[in-house]
Amino acid sequence: MARPMEIYLCTACEGVAPQWVGRCPVCGQWNSLVATVRRDAMAAHPGALCAAVPLRHVGSDASLPVPTGVTEFDRVLGGGLVAGSVTLVFGPPGVGKSTLLFQVLASVAGSGAVVVLASAEESLSQVSGRAGRLGAVPETLLALDGHDVAAVEAAIIRHSPALVVVDSVQTVADDQLPGAAGSLAQVRACVERLTRLGKSAGVPVVLVGHVTKDGDPAGPRAVEHLVDTVLSFDGDRHHALRVLTAVKHRFGPTGEAGIFEMRDDGLRAVPDPGPLLLGDRMAGIPGSVVIPVLQGRRPLLVEVQALLGPGAFGARPHSSGIDASRVTLLLAVLSRRAAVEVGGEVFVAAVGGISITEPAVDLAVALALASAAQGRVLPADLVVFGELGLAGEVRMVPGADRRLAEAWRAGFTSALVPPSTPADAAPPGMEIRRVGTLTEALNTTIPVWSTVAASR
Ligand code: TYD
Ligand code: MG
Repeated sequence: MARPMEIYLCTACEGVAPQWVGRCPVCGQWNSLVATVRRDAMAAHPGALCAAVPLRHVGSDASLPVPTGVTEFDRVLGGGLVAGSVTLVFGPPGVGKSTLLFQVLASVAGSGAVVVLASAEESLSQVSGRAGRLGAVPETLLALDGHDVAAVEAAIIRHSPALVVVDSVQTVADDQLPGAAGSLAQVRACVERLTRLGKSAGVPVVLVGHVTKDGDPAGPRAVEHLVDTVLSFDGDRHHALRVLTAVKHRFGPTGEAGIFEMRDDGLRAVPDPGPLLLGDRMAGIPGSVVIPVLQGRRPLLVEVQALLGPGAFGARPHSSGIDASRVTLLLAVLSRRAAVEVGGEVFVAAVGGISITEPAVDLAVALALASAAQGRVLPADLVVFGELGLAGEVRMVPGADRRLAEAWRAGFTSALVPPSTPADAAPPGMEIRRVGTLTEALNTTIPVWSTVAASR
């Protein structure tokens, strides 16, 4: 058997160096290398022969998802949690991850099954305080201090629960390893340990992870490849609406979105988010455009607003829910391809605390900016979607039929759509206008823009 071999592992980036040096050759961190015994395949399986087998003779171990009883959560998962699966739920701090998973635990425990919450983010008395606000706590909902991964493993072995939630992956640590909780090496090692045990014990494990807006490289998304399912929980903490989507799902499609409202007594499913998103919309305001966005496969009608302030021309736009650099690009396309100059300080917002990351929002943002700049109102019954290219061309986006059906259901009767949208994508009675370019879109909605553009 090969002798264990020493290597040097960086506590900051998990990079490997064959000998000790003062600075990690991978990430450049000083004094971060520690001696570690190499554990490779030969050491783990001395003398083992690795043989490949015909795939068609290998049975599938796909197990059925088990519903948790939190319907929107189950819907996103394609029915529920699979035994032995590992799910990562990530989102910004304060969005409601702990609340959501507490409700999932309470729901599963409500049927008499033992479930375990390993909480390191909050003390057990804080967890108990929250639990009181969310209703009765079932007797079989067990909680433990989740700072030490070995204690979490021990609880899984002792109770063989129907579900384990670890809140969060950034606060649990393996005290045999160097580095603080939250470092990439610790997060990876703990996720690997819990995954291995969850799979062998057939216990579904749900891990919570925080992400910051800038995307922390040592954050939970760095372990996405280790887990079966990755769910994003998003929303603005100042608004009530929360959207749960599957970013990765080994046991089914990733298209479904779960919509919740954060209330005083926890998260509630929202079957129809329309009134929450468009309920307070004021008609007849320049700079307002409605777009049917897709969250997963689910269409949501979101109002995009633009406003021009008195500040300096050319400053970086302020935006909420829409990427500011995308707004800058759209301002350039408006100016160069449609001769619409948007002066002053630019504010753009997706109303309701929704983040829109899909390019389908481009045309709506461009029209909202032009509408604000010209002080002219777009028709109140119009929705708009389409990606904009740098040449000012309107490009196809997926799900035109689902977007149009949702808009029609909510009472919108016309739509500006990309040129290749098939005629039968719209429900009977809805008027769709295909526009090939931004200029065409501007001229179609408010003909006076053509005169403004031509006179420049
Ligand atoms: P939390 O679940 O702690 O968020 P995360 O785990 O993602 O950081 O909850 C976040 C916020 O939600 C908290 O600031 C208060 C609010 N909240 C409610 O509005 N209603 C409730 O019933 C609960 C439990 C929390
Ligand atoms: Mg939390």
